Amino acid sequence: MSAKNLIYPTEVIASRVAALGTLIKEDYGKLLAADESLLVVGVLNGAFIFMADLTRAIGDFPLEIDFVRLSSYQNDCVSSNEIIITKDLEKNIKGRHVLIVEDIADCGLTLAWLLEHLQKREPASLKVAVAVDKKARRATEIPLDYVAFSVEDGFLVGYGLDYAENYRALPAIYEITTR
Ligand code: IMP
Ligand code: MG
Repeated sequence: MSAKNLIYPTEVIASRVAALGTLIKEDYGKLLAADESLLVVGVLNGAFIFMADLTRAIGDFPLEIDFVRLSSYQNDCVSSNEIIITKDLEKNIKGRHVLIVEDIADCGLTLAWLLEHLQKREPASLKVAVAVDKKARRATEIPLDYVAFSVEDGFLVGYGLDYAENYRALPAIYEITTR
């Protein structure tokens, strides 16, 4: 049997994301030249809801969006050898200020791989925003610049996060427990 326990209600998520949006707008407001815009890159599928909310929280600001999709067959935080890009970015990121948006950092291997991969394309800057920083199994150090929520452990669903592709559309974040 599995049960879902509410961890972050919709209103709590909304206020955290609003605060992050304000911070991102301030930070990139200082960084971008007058003729530059921020490129926000969502990692599909998990980031789609956080990405939509975060970009709207950044608000009236020069930004473009793009998406990447990865597939990984990694085993328990051991290696990122099996990660492949199944949908690449459509924009050239050379010289651009890029903010990656991901649903959750767990072992960290996916983001570490993506950062290394995108860094080779020589962006002007590369930062990361995650809805959830889940710390217990982190296997590699990754810079998380903007974090909505930090948890120690547990399997979370909702707000883009899935369990076998289910629950992504739930508007709040729940922990799945088996008993
Ligand atoms: P990692 O950081 O390389 O372990 O990979 C992170 C990916 O694992 C995320 O993009 C999710 O697809 C998945 N993931 C890790 N923890 C959870 C969770 O608690 N709920 C749903 N997906 C998770
Ligand atoms: Mg994912």
